[in-house]
Amino acid sequence: MTLKTIPHVHIETFGCQMNESDSELVRSMLKREGFVFTEDRERADVVLVNTCAIRENAHKKIYAHLSELKALKQQRPLVVGILGCMAQNLKSELAEHEPLVDVLAGPDSYRQLPSLLTNALAVQEQGLSQKGFALDLSEYETYEGIMPDRNSGVNAWITVMRGCDNFCSFCVVPYTRGRERSRDPESILREARDASAKGFRQITLLGQNVNSYRHEAWDFARLIAAVADTAGIDRVRFTSPHPKDFPAALIDTIATHPRACKHIHLPLQAGSDRILELMGRTYTGAEYLALVDRIRATIPDVVLTTDIICGFCSESEEDFQVTQRLVEQAQLDSAYIFKYSERKHTIAARKYADDIPDRIKGLRVAQLVELQRSITLKRNRRYIGKNVEILVERDATRSSTQAMGKTDGNITVVWDKKTGDVGPGALITKHIVDASAATLYGA
Ligand code: SAH
Ligand code: SF4
Ligand code: F3S
Repeated sequence: MTLKTIPHVHIETFGCQMNESDSELVRSMLKREGFVFTEDRERADVVLVNTCAIRENAHKKIYAHLSELKALKQQRPLVVGILGCMAQNLKSELAEHEPLVDVLAGPDSYRQLPSLLTNALAVQEQGLSQKGFALDLSEYETYEGIMPDRNSGVNAWITVMRGCDNFCSFCVVPYTRGRERSRDPESILREARDASAKGFRQITLLGQNVNSYRHEAWDFARLIAAVADTAGIDRVRFTSPHPKDFPAALIDTIATHPRACKHIHLPLQAGSDRILELMGRTYTGAEYLALVDRIRATIPDVVLTTDIICGFCSESEEDFQVTQRLVEQAQLDSAYIFKYSERKHTIAARKYADDIPDRIKGLRVAQLVELQRSITLKRNRRYIGKNVEILVERDATRSSTQAMGKTDGNITVVWDKKTGDVGPGALITKHIVDASAATLYGA
């Protein structure tokens, strides 16, 4: 490096777990080149923002954040780099209309970050301004050979596939993360062993379409089993799968492997077949319910969670009622419920009118949230009086006199700490004495 001082970098991450995992890769690549990371934004020479583009409010959050950085940059020299999905999707807006931005890099371009940042810093030392952009989506990039610099905790993310080829009509991800590609299983297993050796007890396998993982003779079922066989790893989770790829072998592996968590996030998106078709989801409401039944028949104590979008293009009151009925029938354990938000470049933005008023979208979200809350509460109350195994994570958010951890099904449990308690990373059994729609309480 030809810079006068060692540059300090601060990174802030928005969006999904894939972004968390990518930020760990970025940290690793930059540290290797002599950059130093700081938690303190005020001390940083470089601020990186890893962005999300999934809904308009994700954009809004990031724009608000960028105006804070603008104020900081007026006070002193600072290089600002925008990474992630919004960088990829809004390149021209960000590049042309944001004098603040020095470096833009999309999810497949992070190997170029050390040189882009070094250039930006060198140019700034000379009192000049020059932008550096790297936004090519690659068909091959899987960041092979780079061991992530992981955040501490009990869980290690491992990205096993990148990109998405599903092109659900509402979704921006295929445009921000490019084509689907799976990593070599050997390098995934090496990462799992490394994570175990560093003290992580749980691994979460990540991909936008994780169950379509395929590498030569390896499919996703085989991969889960192999990762779950890693010595020292107590739990393996994965997110997010698509309902279209659930062969019996995958369900059987989750059912039978003692360290594969009995939790499946199964995005529904909508209940009405007409809307599902417009969304390009490739299943009907009845097929989704049949899959739920098939999973429950093989894994009786499974925890099922979902994502639902309200107010997609042309969604009528009847369509919405079908979604409500399906939610009632399915009795899933919990759901993330979103207002439809039109995204640039997507099939829906090009072909269908975003014609449901925001007020109606909001009403439908509120109704569905209320319905699911009552189902979640009922589901959670089933645990009262039972003993559950918990992986201890940390102090509870609300009070440091309490600790928190997760059940195998990924439900949060909170309990009062006692002297002599085991710490994070331990598996313990607690008796559940109460439950809300968000939390179980252990004694
Ligand atoms: N790959 C994952 C989803 C990633 S996005 C999967 O297929 O499950 C997470 C969730 O955001 C989606 O499941 C969907 O419910 C929601 N979402 C995606 N695009 C959206 C949009 N344009 N408006 C509102 N919600 C959206
Ligand atoms: Fe988006 Fe659909 Fe791909 Fe999920 S499967 S990332 S919703 S296009
Ligand atoms: Fe957001 Fe990109 Fe993830 S759009 S949800 S950060 S894949």
